Amino acid sequence: METTFPKGFLWGGACAANQFEGGWNLDGKGESVPDHCTNGSVTTPKWVTRTIRPDKFYPSHEAIDFYHHYEEDIALFAEMGFKVFRTSINWTRIFPTGEEAQPNEAGLAFYDRVFDCCKQHGIEPLVTISHYELPYHLVEKYNGWASRELIELYMRLCRVIFARYQGKVKYWLTFNEINAGTRPAGNLMALGTCRGYEGPRPGIPDDPQTRYQVLHHQFVASAKAVAYAHRNYPEYVMGCMILFAASYPLTCNPEDLIANQQNMNQMNWFCGDIQCRGIYPYYAMRFFAEHNIQIQMEPGDLEILKEGTVDLYTFSYYMSTCVSAQDAGKEKVSGNMVGGVKNPYLKASDWGWQIDPVGLRWSLNEIYSRYGKPIMVVENGLGAYDKLEADGSIHDPYRIDYLRAHIQQMAEAVKDGINLIGYTPWGCIDLVSASTGEMAKRYGFIYVDKYDDGTGDLSRRRKDSFYWYQKVIATNGEDLSD
Ligand code: BG6
Repeated sequence: METTFPKGFLWGGACAANQFEGGWNLDGKGESVPDHCTNGSVTTPKWVTRTIRPDKFYPSHEAIDFYHHYEEDIALFAEMGFKVFRTSINWTRIFPTGEEAQPNEAGLAFYDRVFDCCKQHGIEPLVTISHYELPYHLVEKYNGWASRELIELYMRLCRVIFARYQGKVKYWLTFNEINAGTRPAGNLMALGTCRGYEGPRPGIPDDPQTRYQVLHHQFVASAKAVAYAHRNYPEYVMGCMILFAASYPLTCNPEDLIANQQNMNQMNWFCGDIQCRGIYPYYAMRFFAEHNIQIQMEPGDLEILKEGTVDLYTFSYYMSTCVSAQDAGKEKVSGNMVGGVKNPYLKASDWGWQIDPVGLRWSLNEIYSRYGKPIMVVENGLGAYDKLEADGSIHDPYRIDYLRAHIQQMAEAVKDGINLIGYTPWGCIDLVSASTGEMAKRYGFIYVDKYDDGTGDLSRRRKDSFYWYQKVIATNGEDLSD
């Protein structure tokens, strides 16, 4: 059968260790930043605490207990027909504080079991090396990635996992949503720049100078990992991962165009330009000068950036916003890490993220014309309240509608000529929300009996979207009907 999506298209799903594994202190695992984060909601921010407090609830500690359910979960992914499964390595399973000289064998063995299980089901793992899982020890000792020491500690992790999982993992992403660091919201999970802080997430002191210095350390770390992999493991495909928060000028007023261009540059292009092209982009110089940002570099850093450009561009895509040169008084909306001015043509999810499938086609075209590298959409999906019916079924037509509309636009992008190689919708099994720490914000094809008060028997159930996605994959994206 002729299909729009290429033969061998990588259909699958995505999760992150800290949001679904649980087993937070088992088999030698150390404490990570998310292990110090409490739950919150759409109206109440989550907290970070310096110690694990008995009066608080920490959703990552058990999460959905993939740690003990991985065989069952991967079998369900296989039943849906997954070709690829994106997950991440919990740094603190391998190096509990981040600083040990030797890795923790029990942690390494866990991922052996996970990747072997994927292989047995014919599923290719796609591994994010660092997905908001920084060892908490590195926060208190170094103020996270603000210290250059982190580059070598990250490389220590990379050397161990690259060697250990050779033959099991081929696709690697160096940092999840590295551009989260361009926004204050990135301080906690992405950068770990919250030394000594206890309180609600939005209260973490922000310093743009530190954030951009941190990003420089992450760019160097990413490039070193890519170059090291290219030298030692030529079969590895190394990717960046960008939070693509598409934005449009609110009007055709040229001032809005320029405001939006600047927003696109700083939010969506800056990190990808460095990771794909190996140089700091021209527009960053004016931004740094006007914001009084001075990046401390060491000799050789710029060469490393050049040497370590990625093979693959991957990104998350959930929503879009508008930008106005004069946004005072304009209605605002929230979004993934970053909000903006409301777009009158779009509707929003229950968490206020504007739903924009056409923006995905536009983004794919913009990205491909800029870099010309193979692309994967490694996160996309609708966080929604699901209802478990008395008979155990979960009817989620809203999720099917969201995914269908985005897959239709990906098909258009493929017809446009884009080398799109895969799609892994977010939270293919329900998991803890990164922004709010909730279970109530569900993305999965698989429902997990786990609730925000910590109750639930952790049983898994197939939602209606499970059967729908199974058919989508079986027809390589041709049959998107209910
Ligand atoms: C991305 C992250 O920002 O969006 C994921 O990479 C996160 O970790 C996802 O879970 C959805 O965001 P949220 O806040 O709804 O969980």
